[in-house]
Amino acid sequence: MIFMETQRILSGMRPTGKLHLGHYTGALESWVEQQNLLDQNGSRAYETCFLIADYHNLTTSLETGEIYNHTLDMLIDWLAAGIDPEKSPVFRQSQVKEHAELFLIFAMLITSSRLERNPTLKEQVRDLNMESLIYGHLGYPVLQAADILLYKGNVVPVGEDQIPHVEITREIARKFNNQYPHPVLGEVFAEPAPKITKFSRLVGLDGKAKMSKSLGNTILLTDGPDDVLKKMRTAVTDTQKIRKNDPGHPEICTVFSYHAKFASPDQLFSVEEDCRAGTLGCVDCKKLCAANISRELAPLLEKRQYFEMNIDLVKDILFEGEVKARLIANHTMQQVRAAMKLGETTFSIHHGQVKC
Ligand code: TRP
Ligand code: SF4
Repeated sequence: MIFMETQRILSGMRPTGKLHLGHYTGALESWVEQQNLLDQNGSRAYETCFLIADYHNLTTSLETGEIYNHTLDMLIDWLAAGIDPEKSPVFRQSQVKEHAELFLIFAMLITSSRLERNPTLKEQVRDLNMESLIYGHLGYPVLQAADILLYKGNVVPVGEDQIPHVEITREIARKFNNQYPHPVLGEVFAEPAPKITKFSRLVGLDGKAKMSKSLGNTILLTDGPDDVLKKMRTAVTDTQKIRKNDPGHPEICTVFSYHAKFASPDQLFSVEEDCRAGTLGCVDCKKLCAANISRELAPLLEKRQYFEMNIDLVKDILFEGEVKARLIANHTMQQVRAAMKLGETTFSIHHGQVKC
């Protein structure tokens, strides 16, 4: 049997504070699933590492006053959703210096015109009405490439807007491997593959393409049943369906898109039928949807309370994750320096991965 190293999953989020349903369906839920997935032998199918991209946050806001609180808030949501720090180290970019180091090297391996063509960047410039672009923002995917490749992530579960960044990461990995073959390993980096979740982009309550904090159209993971119901009442439906008995078009309705994710198959079927037939009104339909979402969020709310009451534990989890991350990152940078012939002339001949 050929010995295969366990595939590693690396993903991350920017610390924008409390998370919303879009974060959950688009990423967090699948992170937890992959973290707990077992192979045929009962061993973990993947190693998993999750990163808090605090440097990336600076691309859209220079404000750092709340960054630690936002980091803890987000981390609590991760833990409440089932991220297990024993299995998955969690850490901040800013606390592992190698991110900055590898970013600098990668910045030499890609042209600015390639980065200007990044569709995710164009979308952001448009959505945020940005008049000019800071240099670091242009380099956003280069830093992301460093995040992924430092930990030799093979699989990157992300929302669809991040696919272009994973593609750029692949190009940088290829370029590095060609330019700097390692004397022992041959190639330092494997090209990572993105993994998109089915509900990678949840529509906002206002019917806009994306649930997003800046658009104010979110349901938070911390919203209790009353909040969820209140917000659900504001959700945009089929605007042609005014009275209960008007037949509706579920395919254009925001609430129905949530049902597709949170309702049971039977419920989904009857909502669709009854909406079209004009026997279900939007008020009742929204109540059902809110109840389903709240049921899914209930265990998270409970776990959140525990972590909020034990905030020192959360801080320790972060601290320990950062110790583990530094070990891996340091090992990769030794390989990078050896391949680039930077530093010592004798090569370190470490093979393989450092375990999380
Ligand atoms: N850019 C990602 C986002 O906004 C966050 C991120 C930073 C990330 N570094 C990463 C995601 C590395 C995956 C892998 O969602
Ligand atoms: Fe949307 Fe439900 Fe109203 Fe139909 S009944 S338009 S699916 S909210």
